[in-house]
Amino acid sequence: MNIVITGASAGIGFALAKQYAKPGNTLGLLGRNSAKLTNIETICRNQGANTVTAAIDVTDCTAMATWLLDFDRLFPVDLLIANAGITSIMPDNGQGESWEAVCNVLDVNIYGVFNSVYPLIEPMRQRRQGQIAIVSSLAAFRGMPISPAYCATKAAIKSYAEALRGWLNHNHVQVSVVCPGFVKSELSDQFPGPKLLIITADEAAQIIYKGLCKKKALISFPFPLDIGMKLLALLPARTGDWILNRLNYGVHSKREAKTG
Ligand SMILES: NC(=O)c1ccc[n+]([C@@H]2O[C@H](COP(=O)([O-])OP(=O)(O)OC[C@H]3O[C@@H](n4cnc5c(N)ncnc54)[C@H](OP(=O)(O)O)[C@@H]3O)[C@@H](O)[C@H]2O)c1
Repeated sequence: MNIVITGASAGIGFALAKQYAKPGNTLGLLGRNSAKLTNIETICRNQGANTVTAAIDVTDCTAMATWLLDFDRLFPVDLLIANAGITSIMPDNGQGESWEAVCNVLDVNIYGVFNSVYPLIEPMRQRRQGQIAIVSSLAAFRGMPISPAYCATKAAIKSYAEALRGWLNHNHVQVSVVCPGFVKSELSDQFPGPKLLIITADEAAQIIYKGLCKKKALISFPFPLDIGMKLLALLPARTGDWILNRLNYGVHSKREAKTG
């Protein structure tokens, strides 16, 4: 299999690269940090995989398209995992997210995902074969006051994946949306609220791997948090707000917890 993973230099993407690293597989591993990419490349090669790495910012539309199409010509992509992402957290100073933080998270989490997926749609459609996985979040189901822009980006790409699925299905291209809960990583370390039912990146990668093998449309986990977020989205808005505050995912409760 030929597999491209964005955000392969750390966290969930790193763990996914290890999961797919086996003889017969060629991995295209993308990130920005060259040293970290070399590290994951060595691990994957030691496990028997062929690897190609590139330090590219996912927000660079032209560089992404060029690299993806070059890779696809040599190694027709069977599976693309658009995983790279960053978070934005409400600062503790009583102000909202800075405009710079909002723009950054929109750029990486929305344009970055489109830049990763879009170039490969036509080649996959023409081959009538391929699989695309978009890494969203359980935060896509219900916006949390603690990270408004992040939640918005995750809802946007979940919607994109769902829409692509219905379209590309006709061309035998499968699309999955991945919605993890809390996973231990540099990204989740920045999250100030309680990290309910947190799992390791290796555990998350195993769940994602199994779900992608079964070509599941939605891979959301862990089970209780998955159900909780879906139910929260069905509740009346103010009840949902109240619950999020009680769980310390509201901005007020976060500040009160710090000061009180
Ligand atoms: N961890 C969680 O609790 C959690 C929960 C739900 C969803 N997710 C989603 O899972 C995905 C992976 O998150 P993670 O927890 O594994 O985060 P992470 O450990 O911080 O890793 C993020 C990865 O994305 C790459 N990346 C970030 N910005 C980039 C950019 N502009 N261009 C190219 N690569 C970029 C990083 O590469 P470099 O460092 O090399 O730039 C790194 O490889 C994200 O989409 C995140 O939203 C995570």
